Amino acid sequence: MRKLLAANWKMHLYADTAQALAQQLRHHWQEKGWQNLPTVIFPPLLYLREIANILKHSSIQVGAQNAYPGEFGAFTGEVSVAQVSASGGAWLIVGHSERRQYFAEKAPLLQRKLLDAQHRGLKVIYCIGETLEERRCGETLNVLRQQILEVLQGVSVAWNQLAIAYEPVWAIGTGINATPDQAQEAHAFIRQLLTELGAPASHIPILYGGSLKPENAHELFRQPDIDGGLVGGASLQANSFAAIAAALWDK
Ligand code: 13P
Repeated sequence: MRKLLAANWKMHLYADTAQALAQQLRHHWQEKGWQNLPTVIFPPLLYLREIANILKHSSIQVGAQNAYPGEFGAFTGEVSVAQVSASGGAWLIVGHSERRQYFAEKAPLLQRKLLDAQHRGLKVIYCIGETLEERRCGETLNVLRQQILEVLQGVSVAWNQLAIAYEPVWAIGTGINATPDQAQEAHAFIRQLLTELGAPASHIPILYGGSLKPENAHELFRQPDIDGGLVGGASLQANSFAAIAAALWDK
C-alpha cells in the first residue's frame, strides 16, 4: 500500500493537550476502522515517549521531527536517532524546509541523518520543495531534481523505508496550497526521478504538504501520484486531521 498520512505537530502543544489529541485520534481511527490507513504522528520530541505509549496498540505510529545521527555523543542539545528509536519512534522527518531555512541544514547532514535513521530501522520522510522565487523563475523541477539527487544518489538507500514529501515552501503555513495540477506535475516528476535512481518508485509514497486541509484534500488526493499528505496546521485538531484522513481513505 502506497498511502501514508502524517501529522507534523511542529513546535506546538503542551504535554496535556498533546496527549488528549493523541487519545482522540486513537479512538477515531478505531471507530472508523482505519487500521489499514498508514498514519504517523510527529509530536515535539519532548512528548515522543508518552505519545508512543498512548498509541502503542493502535495503527498509528509516531516519529521524530528531527534527530542527530548516531547513538551517544557530546552534542549538547541534540537527541540521537538511536534515542528516538528506543523511545518508540519509528519514523524521522529529514530535510523539512524549516530545518533547511532556520537551522541551515544542508545536503551532507541530511544524507547522514537519512542513512543513519534507515540503518537503525527507522523509516524516513524526506522533504523537498521550491521557494516562491524559484517557482517564479521556472526553476521548480530543477530544484526538486537537485534536492533528490544530492541526498539519494550514489548511496545505498533502503527504498522500502522511504517516503518523499513534496512541500512547496510558499504553501507551508500560508493558506495557499499548490493546485492539484501543480502538485501532480511535481509528484510525477519525482516518481520518474526515483525510477531513474533505480528505486521501486511505484511503491514509494509521495506525500503532498503545504496548507493541506479538509477543503482541498479530496481534489489533491484524486491526483494519481499524490499518495497522501504531510499535514501541519490542520493536524492540530482531531476533527480536521480526521477529515483529511477520510479523504485519503476514500482515494
Ligand atoms: P501546513 O500544513 O501548516 O502548511 O504545514 C505543512 C508542513 O510544513 C508539514 O510538514
